[in-house]
Amino acid sequence: MSKVATLEIDGKRYEFPVVEGTENELGINIKSLRGESGVITLDPGYKNTGSCESGITFLDGEKGILRYRGYAIEDLAEKADFLEVAYLLIFGDLPSKEQLEKFYDDIKEQSTVDEEMKKILDGFPKAAHPMGVLSSLTSALVAFNPSCVDVSSEQDMYNAIVKILGKFPVLAAWTLRKKTSLPLNYGDDSLGYVENLHKMMFEKPGKKYEVNQSVIDALDKLLILHADHEQNCSTSTVRMVGSSHAGLFASISAGISALWGPLHGGANQAVIEMLEKIKEDGGDTKKFMAKAKDKDDPFRLMGFGHRVYKNFDPRAKIIKKSADEVLGQLGVEDPILDIAKGLEKEALEDPYFVDRKLYPNVDFYSGIIYRALGIPVEMFTVMFALGRLPGWIAQWREMRLNKEPIGRPRQIYTGHTHREFQPVDKR
Ligand code: CMC
Repeated sequence: MSKVATLEIDGKRYEFPVVEGTENELGINIKSLRGESGVITLDPGYKNTGSCESGITFLDGEKGILRYRGYAIEDLAEKADFLEVAYLLIFGDLPSKEQLEKFYDDIKEQSTVDEEMKKILDGFPKAAHPMGVLSSLTSALVAFNPSCVDVSSEQDMYNAIVKILGKFPVLAAWTLRKKTSLPLNYGDDSLGYVENLHKMMFEKPGKKYEVNQSVIDALDKLLILHADHEQNCSTSTVRMVGSSHAGLFASISAGISALWGPLHGGANQAVIEMLEKIKEDGGDTKKFMAKAKDKDDPFRLMGFGHRVYKNFDPRAKIIKKSADEVLGQLGVEDPILDIAKGLEKEALEDPYFVDRKLYPNVDFYSGIIYRALGIPVEMFTVMFALGRLPGWIAQWREMRLNKEPIGRPRQIYTGHTHREFQPVDKR
């Protein structure tokens, strides 16, 4: 028997169907609520609101489970590569060897960026934050690829998808090279997706590009861990903008802006800045723990807490282990890794954090790895965006294929009621 939820307002009862997901999650379908009762729901921050039905990513925040299309994140991080995971997220199943090869060939075919785009890049000051530059360049891609906006068939969608997957690493590498005053690099199609990204970012003029496999493996794993996370702030932004049929590139550009914030993807930069500050201040972690708990102090322990995880973020567990391995392999000793471990230990024993179920999230240790790989701190959120790209694409594609209506929440108005207009000399 299907479940029903009953709501009573002023003595009048309304019934709503309860939908059940494949992992037995329940949601009350209130589609007819306003039409029947004239009432809406109010849920700031959408803490209890499901915006869509989705078959892409499952996460159970209480149990610390994360799966892409049914596959455990632990398995994918260990056994798959980033491009396979991208294919899985976007198209629903792991690719065969032939499917993967074709997918990568199609991406490579689209990996050049119009030379005119460089003029836009040149217009930015060197001090510009790479996330702002990346968002603008991604949006500018629309002007050079107008056919990707009005996508009405699956083939149109596919074309737009391989275009953005091909061009996005180029743009991300440009933002870094701009920051570090290096000439732009065009990559090498004979390399794998992640290796080529690394080359475009780091190859120095006149120097032979030598790849360190540990670096590529670490980068690949980080990208996989960031690849999707269901309806988070940036993904909801991508779906929302896409719901107006603005096109994939404009939607992704908006997602980048959403990700930039320190409460979301920008936390990886904020974590390193916080750990550096603690180090410079003499390394007194207790002082910063006290600040984080003080309600009159805006300081928060960056990299801690999550809207959905009320248990260990499974990605944080993998990244912590990876941080130890990568730093060991590269022979890097970073004092802030010890500060991070100290903070984590204290927080996990502190009633403030325990009671609120605040655990390290994906961003707590990722910055330490990025730093060991030689990536400047302002680029950390760009690395997150590179990882999240397939997730954004998958969610946008699902939204378009499901023919979801334009996203348009309602509100409870709390402003003035009607006022008589007064001319300026009477105010
Ligand atoms: N340090 C200190 N107190 C915290 C923290 C923190 N990092 N996070 C939450 N709290 C407290 C908060 O003050 C509140 O306390 P009280 O109930 O006494 O008012 C309680 O915990 C609940 O917090 P909330 O802000 O209502 O929770 P939320 O679900 O709205 O916010 C969050 C989630 C991730 C924005 C928040 O935990 C936070 O700001 N964390 C630091 C930033 C961060 O690391 N963000 C990265 C998130 S993971 C990457 C991603 O997917 O974006």
